[in-house]
Amino acid sequence: MSKPRLEGKVALITGAASGIGEETARLFVKHGAFVVIADVQDDLGSQVAETIGLDKVSYRHCDVRDEKQVEEAVSYTVEKYGKLDILFSNAGILGPLTGILELDIDAFDNIMATNVRGMAAMIKHAARAMVAKSIRGSIICTGSVASSIGGTGPHGYTTSKHAIVGLVRGTCSELGAHGIRVNCVSPYGVATPLVCRGYNWEPSEVEANSYAMNNLKGIVLKARHVAETVLFLASDESAYISGQNLGVDGGFTVANHSLSVSSLTN
Ligand SMILES: NC(=O)c1ccc[n+]([C@@H]2O[C@H](COP(=O)([O-])OP(=O)(O)OC[C@H]3O[C@@H](n4cnc5c(N)ncnc54)[C@H](O)[C@@H]3O)[C@@H](O)[C@H]2O)c1
Repeated sequence: MSKPRLEGKVALITGAASGIGEETARLFVKHGAFVVIADVQDDLGSQVAETIGLDKVSYRHCDVRDEKQVEEAVSYTVEKYGKLDILFSNAGILGPLTGILELDIDAFDNIMATNVRGMAAMIKHAARAMVAKSIRGSIICTGSVASSIGGTGPHGYTTSKHAIVGLVRGTCSELGAHGIRVNCVSPYGVATPLVCRGYNWEPSEVEANSYAMNNLKGIVLKARHVAETVLFLASDESAYISGQNLGVDGGFTVANHSLSVSSLTN
């Protein structure tokens, strides 16, 4: 492996019992970081921590909808490892696949509480911990292609993911004064439990759908590709990048082939 890119850094990752967060926790540790996995799936989260190695990783129960638990997860990280350099605020839910005519307002509130309020609380307490110790930290939030366009998820999800970009830009503008960077990573469809359970698809069906619908060919999007982008944003290699919404989407949100030369000539 090339030189570790997070040597001695301390990271808190929400939603890391599974999917993109888990993959990122594994990659961060390979690159020399200490990681706290914060999630609501206690058995799975503890298992992930054990398989990575308890000398480098610990699991902490944290429901991001509850600010007290968020504050405690941050305090736990600082007490255990001495500081907090990186927050990967990644926990999220999809919500029911209903249209606006059947919108369940309670379910909508729950999506916003998890995907938006949870991220705001995480940034608040992580940034407090960074500022208190003069850490020039990196905060990365998980958006989605649904952060930029409509029609790629249910309305609550799209609304929440658009809001995350606003949160990232707003907090970037304030935290820059402390040397803290805030960015967003926005993946296209990855075969994780969120998508497989949400759409009732097998992982192979998710990947086949993502491949067929996307612009970039010859490659299947994996959680690993997202984790590598998060690693870049967490590391000093992105030292002057802040306030960005970085798509890991093969051009999905910027390319539309409806009037392209290839579609007209085929
Ligand atoms: N998989 C995709 O195609 C895709 C695409 C774009 C964005 N995303 C985003 O990636 C992030 C991670 O999702 P994933 O695809 O890895 O799915 P996942 O279901 O594998 O992981 C999500 C994790 O978040 C945790 N979580 C849910 N509610 C929580 C809460 N209240 N408090 C703490 N943890 C909670 C879950 O327990 C789970 O471990 C989400 O924000 C999701 O919106 C996923």
